Amino acid sequence: MADIIQQLEETTTWIKKQYPHTPFVGVVLGSGLGNFAGEIKVEKEIPYTDIPNFPVSTVEGHSGKLIFGELSGRKIVAMAGRFHFYEGYTPEQVTFPIRLMKYLGIQILILSNAAGGVNTAFKVGDLMLIKDHISLAIVNPLLGKNNTELGPRFPDMSEPYSKELQKKVKNIAASLQIPMQEGVYFGVTGPTFETRAEYKMIHILGGDAVGMSTVQEVIVAVHMGLPVVAISIITDLGIREEDNVITHEEVLEAAAAAEPRLSAIFKQLVAEL
Ligand code: HPA
Repeated sequence: MADIIQQLEETTTWIKKQYPHTPFVGVVLGSGLGNFAGEIKVEKEIPYTDIPNFPVSTVEGHSGKLIFGELSGRKIVAMAGRFHFYEGYTPEQVTFPIRLMKYLGIQILILSNAAGGVNTAFKVGDLMLIKDHISLAIVNPLLGKNNTELGPRFPDMSEPYSKELQKKVKNIAASLQIPMQEGVYFGVTGPTFETRAEYKMIHILGGDAVGMSTVQEVIVAVHMGLPVVAISIITDLGIREEDNVITHEEVLEAAAAAEPRLSAIFKQLVAEL
């Protein structure tokens, strides 16, 4: 396999031929959040299947695409669909698009995801601004030989989510009168949802929400010095007295219902960057 830097350079050159502008911000749209793409004045769409060195999708009909265009007067690149570790991709494959967006020139990364709530004050449909994460239950994407062209061997993780961007999001949410929870995102590999005992453990360990994406992406972004802001939609509740069966359908439904609020915040955030 070719060296990661070589792959990134090759893919960047290829994309620049299709779309010569430099996006200022990159956005990753999580499960059930694809509609946000409708807010973008689209200039170019490239299916993942066309992009050299991109992982090949394991899910039929869900290959996803990169969307280039303008939002709130800013050049943007959005990933409609992300790659998850539970799908069988390596951490390097999962994070390739994040590294690529940095190579394309983005200066800020905005992430969204669906997550299970383990903070007992949370309700289904809440938005949670991620202020920190716990990565112990995932595979760190920086394991192995470090590539100093991308970043340092031992990246500092004291502020993985930009405090300045968090402040902006909180102000925007308040001005739009959109309630915003804050908390710690606990990363897991999935694909099983958690057992009752696991949700409880995550709560005890300091998680407010748990999810199967985002953390590996954030780690490579921090490695490259890319500021990150991330919001979870709480799609289900892990800690409940009553029956607690969780389905993928209900996760998608709750995410779609909350999407207009998330979109409004992202749109305003991009305007204020
Ligand atoms: N657990 C893990 N990942 C999730 C959940 C959950 O409860 N909900 C949405 N993604």
